Amino acid sequence: MIILGIETSCDETAAAIVTEHGIQSNLVHSQLEEHRPFGGVVPEIAARNHIEHLDGLIKQAMDVAQINFHDLDGVAASAGPGLIGGLMVGLTMAKSIALVHSLPLMAVNHLEAHALIPRLTDKVDFPYLLLLISGGHCQFLTVRGVGQYRRLGTTIDDAPGEAFDKVARMVGLEYPGGPAIEAAAVNGSRHRYDLPRPLKGRPGCDFSFSGLKTAVSRKIMEGKVLEKDIPDLCASFQEAVVDILEDRLQHAAVAFSESHGTRPLVLAGGVAANSVLRARLKATANTLGFSFTAPPPALCTDNAAMVAWAGIERLRLNMVDNLDAEPRARWPLDPDAPKSVGAGVKA
Ligand code: KG4
Ligand code: ZN
Repeated sequence: MIILGIETSCDETAAAIVTEHGIQSNLVHSQLEEHRPFGGVVPEIAARNHIEHLDGLIKQAMDVAQINFHDLDGVAASAGPGLIGGLMVGLTMAKSIALVHSLPLMAVNHLEAHALIPRLTDKVDFPYLLLLISGGHCQFLTVRGVGQYRRLGTTIDDAPGEAFDKVARMVGLEYPGGPAIEAAAVNGSRHRYDLPRPLKGRPGCDFSFSGLKTAVSRKIMEGKVLEKDIPDLCASFQEAVVDILEDRLQHAAVAFSESHGTRPLVLAGGVAANSVLRARLKATANTLGFSFTAPPPALCTDNAAMVAWAGIERLRLNMVDNLDAEPRARWPLDPDAPKSVGAGVKA
C-alpha cells in the first residue's frame, strides 16, 4: 500500500509518501520566517503559503520516493482540527488528486495522525495510553483502535506548547519557544526559581498551565530575571511543566489500568520532542509498570508522514471518505468527552 499524505493544518506545509513498511519520503516546508515578525501564526499568511508551496512539495515527495501518481493506492490529508484556510488548501488538493486518479480519499483527523504514528515507528499494539501534547492540545487518551478514543483528561486552560511559546516570547527567545527554551535550559539551574505546579496532587487527570505562565511573567515584571538569569528561568519553567505532566500521568495510569492493565505509554505531539520530558516520563511510566514509546522528534512535530500513516490505517479498514468531506476547524478525537472540564477548579 503506497499513500500520499498532505499536512496543512497550521504553519507547516508537508507532503510524504508512506508504505506499510516505512516512510519513503517526508518533506516539510516551514513557514516560520513568514510568521516570525508577527510573533505567532497569521492564518491568512499561512493559507497563502500553503497554496504557493504544496504542489511543488508533493512533486518533490514523489520524486524522492521515485513513484508516480499511478503507483498510489490512496491519498490522505489533514481535514482538521486546525486553521480552516490551510485545511481547505490541503483537503482540496487531496480531493483533486483522488478524483483525477480515481484513488480513495482519507480525510484524516490531525490529532489521530499524531496518535497513530508510533504504531509505524515502534510497532505499538492497541490498546495504549496516549499523552498528546502540542501547541494547541493537551490530553490523555485511551487508544483502543483506529477511530476509537476515550479522553481521560485535558487542559482546563492552556496547552503546554502554548505555555512554552509564551514564556519564550516573554524572555525574548524566538518562536517556536519549545526548542528555544529546551536549548537555553541546558545551561540553567532547574531549582533556581520557585514556580507553581497547578493541579499537582489533585484527583483526576486534567491539566492547567496558565498559573505557571502568569508566575513566570510576574517574576519578570518584578525585575527578578536579568539577561544572565534566562537559562535558570527556562530550566525552572521546563522542570515545572515536566513535574505537572509527571503528576498527572500517575493519575491517568491508574484510570487507564482499571480497564486495560499496564500497557505502553505513548507520547505524541510537538512538545513530545522535548528530551528532558521524554526521559522523565519514561522513568515514571516504567515505575508504574508501563513501557514507554515516543516517535523520533521529527515525527512528533507536524509532518505529513503521520497523516499518510493514518491514511494507511484507515484504508486497511475501509474507512474511506467521500469527495464531499469537509474541513473542520474543531474536531475532538473523543466526541463524547465533555466540552469544558474542570469548571470551578482552581489551581
Ligand atoms: O504538534 P505541533 O508541531 O503543532 C501543533 O499541532 O500544535 O506542536 C508545536 C508545539 C509548539 O508549541 C512548540 O513550541 C512545541 O510544540 N515544541 C516543543 C519542542 N519542540 C516543539 N516544546 C518543548 N520542547 C521542544 N523541544
Ligand atoms: Zn500537531
